[in-house]
Amino acid sequence: MNKISQRVILLLGVLGFVGEASAKLEPSQVMGQGLYEQEGGNSCLFCHGIAGEGGNVKEAAKLDQPKTWKTYKALGGDAAFNKDPKAFLEKMKKGVEDLIRVGAIRHNASYKEAGFDWSKISPFNAQMMGLGGAASVTWMKKYQKRGVNAEIAAGSLWLHLAKLDKQGVLTK
Ligand code: HEC
Repeated sequence: MNKISQRVILLLGVLGFVGEASAKLEPSQVMGQGLYEQEGGNSCLFCHGIAGEGGNVKEAAKLDQPKTWKTYKALGGDAAFNKDPKAFLEKMKKGVEDLIRVGAIRHNASYKEAGFDWSKISPFNAQMMGLGGAASVTWMKKYQKRGVNAEIAAGSLWLHLAKLDKQGVLTK
């Protein structure tokens, strides 16, 4: 193979890679809302309610009030949040998205990121199944065929949670 055809092949490879990267699905609030609001057993909506409160499970966190969440407390609450909202939210997003992806039981056992003071909270209630609920599993199966993975789904739910937030925490 001569040098020119090698370069052409390299260029085509780069273009193909760029094309693939730009076609990659990004998390979106609309996707998050669609997933959150699935009808049926153990969707987010089922346990948490449409506006984040008043669902079927009384122990469920109030999703319109992020300051009441365990993750917020474990990260040091208002003092830590006010000191450096950006760094705080980065950790909070990562922790909450993990909880949503793997559910309370696995999150309790495996999430060991720095910055969390677990002595400030009790372990997450096992009823918090996150994406493990039947309605969410069905949704995931359908959208996996279109390129959605658990990370994109959790990122989309985070954006929807920011919309439900009445305390202006997640949008800061
Ligand atoms: C079967 C019921 C159930 C389902 C389904 C469920 N949750 Fe939960 N969720 C809970 C309960 C109960 C808690 C409270 C956990 C605790 O405080 O220990 C909770 C807590 C949370 C929290 C607060 C986390 C924190 O740091 O305190 C978020 C955010 C959340 N759920 C989001 C979701 C999303 C998004 C979905 C859908 C993918 C979902 N939940 C599905 C029951 C459920």
